[in-house]
Amino acid sequence: MLTSLFLCGALGVLLVPVRSQLISVCVEEDEDLRVDCRIKPKPNKITSYEFSWSSGTKESLINTNVSGSAAEVQFRDKSEVVELDPYGYRMTLKGFTNTIPHNTTYMCKISGQVQNINVEKEQLQPCSAVSLFLKSSWSWIVPLLIFLYHTHC
Ligand SMILES: *[C@@H]1O[C@H](CO)[C@@H](O)[C@H](O)[C@H]1NC(C)=O
Ligand SMILES: *[C@@H]1O[C@H](CO)[C@@H](O)[C@H](O)[C@H]1NC(C)=O
Repeated sequence: MLTSLFLCGALGVLLVPVRSQLISVCVEEDEDLRVDCRIKPKPNKITSYEFSWSSGTKESLINTNVSGSAAEVQFRDKSEVVELDPYGYRMTLKGFTNTIPHNTTYMCKISGQVQNINVEKEQLQPCSAVSLFLKSSWSWIVPLLIFLYHTHC
């Protein structure tokens, strides 16, 4: 009983970082910056997206389709947003990877819900490594969930 309580707690801690990956940042092979935002849109709300980053007190809007707001001129024509399956948006930004400030907070907003992540420049991962990590973590998540189910966590 105690052992299973302990296991459930430990597994819960392991699962938290995976579950909270609603925003992720990586660098593509062609050096484009990629920000994935997987916030689930609320039903009955107009979907809109907004991608920005901030460093210190300076916040820059990179791409948005919120009516009435506009990205900074330097990012226009440099960034692109596509829809992700089953929901969410992916923003790619060309030509800024080398000029990203050392300590940057990346933010995305979907239909008013905000996520952000702070990534230091040295910690930016190549996207190929990130997707490998996600794949390998999913391969143990499924047996883990089955295990959790059987131990009645
Ligand atoms: C923003 O883009 C998405 C996907 O293309 C679209 O569904 C949505 O209606 C757009 N929102 C606004 C406010 O234009
Ligand atoms: C980076 O910025 C965040 C948010 O502004 C701050 O909390 C954090 O301490 C900073 N990290 C470093 C290493 O400067």
